[in-house]
Amino acid sequence: MSQYLSTDARKVTAKELSAMKSRGEKISMLTTYDYSFARLVDAGGVDVILVGDSAANVMAGYTTTLPITLDQMIYHTSCVVRGVEHALVVTDMPFGSYQGDAQLALRSAVRIVKESGTDCVKLEGGEEIGDAIRAILDAGIPVMGHLGLTPQSIHKFGTFGVRAKEEMEAEKLIRDAHLLEELGCCSLVLEKIPAKLASQVSQELHIPVIGIGAGGGTDGQVLVLQDMMGMTQAFSPKFLRRYADLGSVIQEAVHNYVVDVKGGDFPNEQESY
Ligand code: KIV
Repeated sequence: MSQYLSTDARKVTAKELSAMKSRGEKISMLTTYDYSFARLVDAGGVDVILVGDSAANVMAGYTTTLPITLDQMIYHTSCVVRGVEHALVVTDMPFGSYQGDAQLALRSAVRIVKESGTDCVKLEGGEEIGDAIRAILDAGIPVMGHLGLTPQSIHKFGTFGVRAKEEMEAEKLIRDAHLLEELGCCSLVLEKIPAKLASQVSQELHIPVIGIGAGGGTDGQVLVLQDMMGMTQAFSPKFLRRYADLGSVIQEAVHNYVVDVKGGDFPNEQESY
């Protein structure tokens, strides 16, 4: 729970992810955006906690990830870092904090690390952001790549549909994946691409590939916490498996509380001073 790099052997490091791939151990990753959930998710034994810019959707209610700011990502990450003892913490660099300017990318990444205590940053894109990734890595900050459906480019894509179904886009994705490995990224997220392509990339790369909507042939999986916990019922893509129905649990608990307060049942004598 400290902001210092832990010397605790239980803390997962960016380097450890490759070792996990080498020994054939699948990597589990979930998003988290606040202290209370970070404690629970970490205690549940997840390997990597991603402070995703999906916070723009599930925490702030925006329809895209574009509006979230660098300051907001730093705030969410610092809350998460205070709740984590074991997992590697990775922070999404938000839209506008790195594209097209390697010096800006470096300044943004340094701010995230200094002000939040994160272990690693994640950027969306391949060749186009190669200079930005190089500058961040040169500063000693681990980088996770992200290819396939990259939600920060939603206005270029036009939809949140499956990417790289066409040969040309699949070939560029494979080239970009190799480039990210050559640059020194510690791992790579592949989002919403055909399972066969994701398996091929996972087999070709030495660094671990973590999939979301990319089939079972990758080296690990990531889901958005609120989606897998059943808190975002309206969102139900094919790849999403729900592990709980917290949405109903929370609504029922709130309803029961309202009934108790209105009926005068809460608080009772034992709950009073
Ligand atoms: O922001 C996010 O939650 C992500 C995952 C979907 C990989 O980038």
